[in-house]
Amino acid sequence: MILKVENIGKSFGKNKVLKNVSFEMDPSLLYGIVGENGSGKSTLLKIIVGEWKPDKGNISVAGRIGYCPQNVLLFSHLTVDENMRYFAAAYNIEKLEFISRSESLMDYFNFKKFRKERVVNLSGGTQQKINLAIALLHRPQLLILDEPYNGFDWDTYQRFWIYANQLREEGCAILVVAHLITEKERFDRVFNLTEGELT
Ligand SMILES: Nc1ncnc2c1ncn2[C@@H]1O[C@H](COP(=O)(O)OP(=O)(O)O)[C@@H](O)[C@H]1O
Ligand SMILES: [Mg+2]
Repeated sequence: MILKVENIGKSFGKNKVLKNVSFEMDPSLLYGIVGENGSGKSTLLKIIVGEWKPDKGNISVAGRIGYCPQNVLLFSHLTVDENMRYFAAAYNIEKLEFISRSESLMDYFNFKKFRKERVVNLSGGTQQKINLAIALLHRPQLLILDEPYNGFDWDTYQRFWIYANQLREEGCAILVVAHLITEKERFDRVFNLTEGELT
């Protein structure tokens, strides 16, 4: 098991967003969570990655997490290269490893041509790709993606799935959260988040 979520509850004032959420993830499997807008998907992910504290319950993680938030989390006035280097330093990635990883991710997701540009000048879709590449930089064992398809064009969407399948072969568990999951057959398990609980 790589992730265990037990009895998570979270309210914002009177708004009980998560009532009692429990699930587990095993290596190499692909999980989905679907739910309407406002059902608490992003809140749950922020709790899993440790950005927010739950009111109750426990999270245990047994590996490196790669997290791609719904709203891109980049330094908009730094260049693409500078952003990659910043996060590599934060993840403590060794220099040669960083160079090979970042070059191959920039090639694969086709944004190397923007490497010297400031992020603020790039399209939303390109920013999403960089956000994804950064979540992949340190070879995560648990990859968590919040609405990953929103900004992707068709080519990126296809490439994303090829990459995801390679990661799974290496043992990485993946959690995709979306308001709509079209290709359910790709997933090992899909949960619904409704009224603060998973079904
Ligand atoms: N920082 C916050 N403060 C107060 N309410 C919040 C905050 N973040 C989210 N919420 C509320 O929690 C609910 C779930 O939000 P969210 O987790 O973003 O849903 P989803 O990702 O499923 O669209 C919404 O009602 C939202 O207004
Ligand atoms: Mg959300």
